Amino acid sequence: MDYLIKPFPNEELLHVLGRIEHEILLTAENEALRSRLQVYEGPGALIGASEAMTRLRRLIARVAPTQSTILVRGDSGTGKELIARALHEQSGRSSHPLVRVNCGAIPETLLESELFGHVKGAFTGATERRTGRIELAGDGTLFLDEMGDLPASLQVKLLRVLQEREYDPVGSSQTRPVRARIIAATNRDLEKAIEKGSFREDLYYRLNVVTIQAPPLRDHLEDLEELVRHFTLRISAREGLPEKSPSHGFLDALRKWHWPGNVRELENTIESALILGEGEHFEVQDLPSYIRTREPSGTLPPSQASPETSIPESATLEEVEKRMLMKALDECGGNQSEAARRLGITRRTLAYRREKYGI
Ligand SMILES: Nc1ncnc2c1ncn2[C@@H]1O[C@H](COP(=O)(O)OP(=O)(O)OP(=O)(O)O)[C@@H](O)[C@H]1O
Ligand SMILES: [Mg+2]
Repeated sequence: MDYLIKPFPNEELLHVLGRIEHEILLTAENEALRSRLQVYEGPGALIGASEAMTRLRRLIARVAPTQSTILVRGDSGTGKELIARALHEQSGRSSHPLVRVNCGAIPETLLESELFGHVKGAFTGATERRTGRIELAGDGTLFLDEMGDLPASLQVKLLRVLQEREYDPVGSSQTRPVRARIIAATNRDLEKAIEKGSFREDLYYRLNVVTIQAPPLRDHLEDLEELVRHFTLRISAREGLPEKSPSHGFLDALRKWHWPGNVRELENTIESALILGEGEHFEVQDLPSYIRTREPSGTLPPSQASPETSIPESATLEEVEKRMLMKALDECGGNQSEAARRLGITRRTLAYRREKYGI
């Protein structure tokens, strides 16, 4: 942890030891907080007692134990992944795996062998057999996330999975059965995608057996206060920061915002208020100016740009890219289509980079 150069005075040794002791204590404290976090963070906990959330929970309880394919729809950040987890946990398959495939983020060429696996020698570079995610899911749940971004070539193959409940691993003609329950999620307007010809109608009908609609946050603002409490608790435990309660003005401002990025945007807002706010409570000034002034997002004046968006000279290209992605997502309230448009890349590329950088 440190070093001394001989000869050294005893006070220097004591000073170094004192600092090390302090560091060890901090680490222990941090670990204690982390273990507390695990208690708070039950997987798939959907927060909210509003009518919309109650209805959602009731619907989940009802369809989870069935074998039906379920399509979860809703805007970005509305909790589709949480819903998929809740469905899995209440399905009677919870002792089996829940395997997620991000259909929008895996490059098209890899997606097929990712899903179906491949045999040894199936293509150049396939030096080993690979187990696909359908097989990994076994008797559990296969969660096809960002389903609306599935490339056309794979839509046909997935149709077979849903219709015949079978598939062939890449490079093999040994048909294998699909035992997993399938849940798909998308924030795309699939009907429009069908009209445009980018999504197959037959696949749509196979998917659209039972649909669960995740409500946008502006339709259940009654839950806002509880969500704020939930995220405050979670983030303060994670960061080892004291918990804070929101002032009336703070909650009022939140209630007036239209939340284009939904619960994820709220979560990010609380995180930034907790980390940057200096007071004992959450105050209006802890909020970004676009929320405070209720203007549409994305118009931060330069003087208010957060310090982490300025680029140090030593930054690598990857760091710069990561910062730009985070900034764009932040300013669009987590709305990925909008952020991609602003960055001049496709939504697919954005999703791929997000996965890569763990954003
Ligand atoms: N009702 C809720 N209670 C608690 N947390 C929630 C709720 N809804 C969403 N969240 C949180 O908001 C964040 C976004 O949720 P999630 O990833 O499930 O959204 P999504 O609909 O899949 O978004 P995207 O379309 O962008 O992938 C997560 O951190 C999730 O835990
Ligand atoms: Mg999602």
